[in-house]
This record gives sequence, structure tokens and C-alpha cells, in this order.
Amino acid sequence: MNKGKYFFLSMLFLLVLASCKNKDGVEIEYDYYPKEDYQMMSQYLEIPEVPFTYENRFPDYYSTFPRTYDRDLATLGRVLFYDKNLSDDRTISCASCHKQEIAFSDDRALSDGVNGRKTARNSLALGSVFNFQEYYGSAIIGRIPFFWDNRAASVQEQSRATLGNPDEMNMEMHEVLARVQDLPYYEPLFKMAYGNGPQNENEVLDAIGVFVNSLGSFNSRYDQEVDKYMEQNGSLANIENASLSGFNAQENMGRELFVANCSSCHGNIEQAAPTPGLIQANNGLQVEYEDDGVANFEPGSQNVAMFKVPTLRNVALTGPYMHNGSLATLEDVIEHYSNSIAPHPNLSAELKTPTGQPKQMNFDQEEKEALIAFLKTYTDDEFLTDERYADPFKQ
Ligand code: HEC
Ligand code: HEC
Repeated sequence: MNKGKYFFLSMLFLLVLASCKNKDGVEIEYDYYPKEDYQMMSQYLEIPEVPFTYENRFPDYYSTFPRTYDRDLATLGRVLFYDKNLSDDRTISCASCHKQEIAFSDDRALSDGVNGRKTARNSLALGSVFNFQEYYGSAIIGRIPFFWDNRAASVQEQSRATLGNPDEMNMEMHEVLARVQDLPYYEPLFKMAYGNGPQNENEVLDAIGVFVNSLGSFNSRYDQEVDKYMEQNGSLANIENASLSGFNAQENMGRELFVANCSSCHGNIEQAAPTPGLIQANNGLQVEYEDDGVANFEPGSQNVAMFKVPTLRNVALTGPYMHNGSLATLEDVIEHYSNSIAPHPNLSAELKTPTGQPKQMNFDQEEKEALIAFLKTYTDDEFLTDERYADPFKQ
């Protein structure tokens, strides 16, 4: 669907809303949900009388493609995402390890799961799931990969794995469904989404999937600047070499260093993988890894110690960093790339010298600070407080 169509649909939606005023211009209650249902749900939840729309306006520089934004599915998914009843001991929800105020990441190296257990890896920020198709390109590998080792092919598969993981939520899908069927607020939410009460496991996973796929962070200063560049120049041609007019000298210097040293893996413009298929790499974090990464689920593969190349949207907020959370701050990350890249046998070519040694970027203090200043332009404050993504439960 193109933008014109979205615009048309939103106008239609406004028209429907507008028609709900009576002749004196007094707002008439718009009965989206049956009244008793809404009152009952309101004992537990703060959800709007008319669901939010989850359609997002992209920056103009983004390529667009069809997405599912169904607001009833997203609303249901939002409630499921924040519901602690979906975990074994009812203490953990998805949001326990994916906190909105830090771009849906966690602020600890390993997260706390049910029954006092800890996750095996660092929680991934979800501020970019919406951008995954641009970032990783579903066409390349026929799927959009999830997790540090890219083992899940869809967000539904990812949620099933998380719910079932003994360190995370420790629930079989049939147990999840039984809990959902017991909680009164799900009946009307499922009816709106599917035309019936909760009946099967895939409905639960699909709704979570629509919500997670709607998490869209694309209004950082970086996005605004790229948009402006495109407006002023008619295209993105030569943007790698240009100074962005709204950035200060330090941020532009950081961007230049990033383009020279980092964007070969982390992408430049749309933060899209620059080389088709470059979804995983080894960045020389350690000489010996405890975690085999992609090779864990591809037995015998060459991909030992290869991990997802994560998107860097909102990266200033998402520490600790790396699959094991071993680098606490952005300063530590820059230090790592500057002169601590380890000579792992699978170290990716982008981080090697022509003779095969780990690169020594040797950034000086000014350059380190500039890189960090640039990385901070990826922060999207609006996303962190967007009420459509917030906890709907009454405390
Ligand atoms: C106990 C903490 C915890 C809970 C609860 C949790 N997650 Fe996660 N999440 C993680 C960790 C850790 C990872 C990375 C795991 C890995 O790569 O093996 C992750 C990864 C993900 C990813 C992959 C992102 C990417 O970039 O590949 C998605 C999507 C996600 N979680 C969504 C969810 C959803 C939806 C729920 C609820 C059904 C949930 N998580 C519950 C900790 C958690
Ligand atoms: C060879 C490709 C490659 C290059 C070049 C590269 N990275 Fe990375 N980067 C990765 C991979 C792979 C990971 C995840 C590694 C892991 O967890 O073991 C990563 C992780 C990160 C993270 C952690 C993100 C998170 O959410 O935990 C940051 C920050 C980062 N890189 C910044 C940079 C910067 C800045 C540069 C340039 C100085 C750079 N990278 C160059 C591949 C690369």
C-alpha cells in the first residue's frame, strides 16, 4: 500500500469520528466496543475507547512496502505483551525484559526470567523490529531473522520460543492459551481481533507479532536529517560524503568515522544491511567464545561465533552491549573497535587488515567522542513515550 492510500484511510477514519458529534457539536460516545465489555475491560486496562491506529508515517527516504497494521490485533498484542500472567510464576511479561523507556531493551547484561532464573544472552532492543525488512531484507534469505543467532524466522516463532524458554517465561503454548481463556478482558479483545473468543495458540502469537512488528522508531534526529538531505537534493546520492546541515561539527565528524569504519556492517542510509546477506558477522569480541552463536542451531556450520549484526537505532539507550552484555557503555564499545578486536579465526573481513590481522582503528579522544555524539543522533525520544506502545495495565 502506498502513502496516498494511508492518507485516504486516515481521512476516512477522521470523517467517521467527526460524524459522531451530534447537532450541537457535543461528542457522542463512540461505541467501538460493546458498552459492558468496555466497562469490564476498564477494571483492568486503560485502553482507548476507539483503538489507536498503528499506521506509522515513514520518513520520505524510506522505501515502503505492505505491512499489517490491524489495530484490533495490535491492541490485543499490546495487552499480551504487558501481561505477566503469561509467565509460569506470573511475575514476568515481555515488557520485563523489553522496556519502552529504553527502546524496548533491558538495562542489565542478562535479564531476570521466571523462578529466579537468568537469560543466557543480552536482551535485544525492539525499537527497530518495524524496520527489520529494510534492515535485513526478507527477500535475501526468505525470512526476517530474529535473535542474536538469527535462528527464528518470524516474530511468531520468536515469541513461541521465548514463552517456552525455561529461563524466560517457561510456558507451553497450551498453558498460555488456558491462562488467556481464564482472564476476562481477553474475550472482548479477541472478539474484535478475530470475531471469536480465544480459541487457538496461533491467534495469541499472531497478535503479539502484529504489535511487535508495529514498534516503529524512525523519528530520530538522524532520520530528520536524512529526510532533509533528500528534500534538498532530490535524492540520497552522495550522502555518505556530505555534511548533514542540522548536525554540529562533532556529529558530522562522528558520522564520517562511522561511514569509514562501521557502515560496511551496520549500514549507512536506512541502516540497511549494505551487502545483501550481511546479517551476521564476527566482530572479534573475544578470542574464545563461550557461545557459538549461529553455529548453535546450524550444527557443523562455519558460523561459529557469528552473531546478528544488530541495528543501532536508539543505541545510546540500549546498553549493556553485545550478545553477552559484556560491554557496559558506548565508550567500552568504541574502545573495543579502536584497539581490542580479537583475532578470532572467523573474524569478519571488514575488521581485518589486508594481511588478515585485526584492524587497529586507534581512534584518538576527539574521534571517540565524535563517534559517540553521532551514535546519539539515533535516539528517537518520541518512540520512548508513544502511548500506543505503553503499558495498558492499571497498576
Ligand atoms: C526474561 C527476559 C525476556 C522476556 C520475558 C522476553 N524476552 Fe525477548 N529477548 C530476550 C533476550 C535475552 C533476547 C535475545 C535472545 C537470543 O538472542 O537468544 C530477546 C530477543 C527478542 C527478540 C528478537 C529481536 C531481534 O533483534 O532479533 C524479539 C522480537 C523479542 N525478544 C520479543 C519478545 C516478546 C514478544 C516477548 C514476550 C512474548 C519477549 N521477547 C519476552 C529477553 C526476554
Ligand atoms: C564486521 C562487521 C562489523 C563492523 C565493521 C562493525 N560492527 Fe558493530 N557489531 C557487529 C556484530 C556482529 C555485533 C554483535 C556482536 C556480538 O554480540 O558478539 C556488533 C555489535 C555492535 C554494537 C552493540 C549493539 C547492541 O545492541 O548490543 C555496537 C554499539 C556496535 N556494534 C557499534 C559499531 C561501531 C561504532 C563500529 C565502527 C567503529 C562497528 N560496530 C563496526 C558487526 C560489526
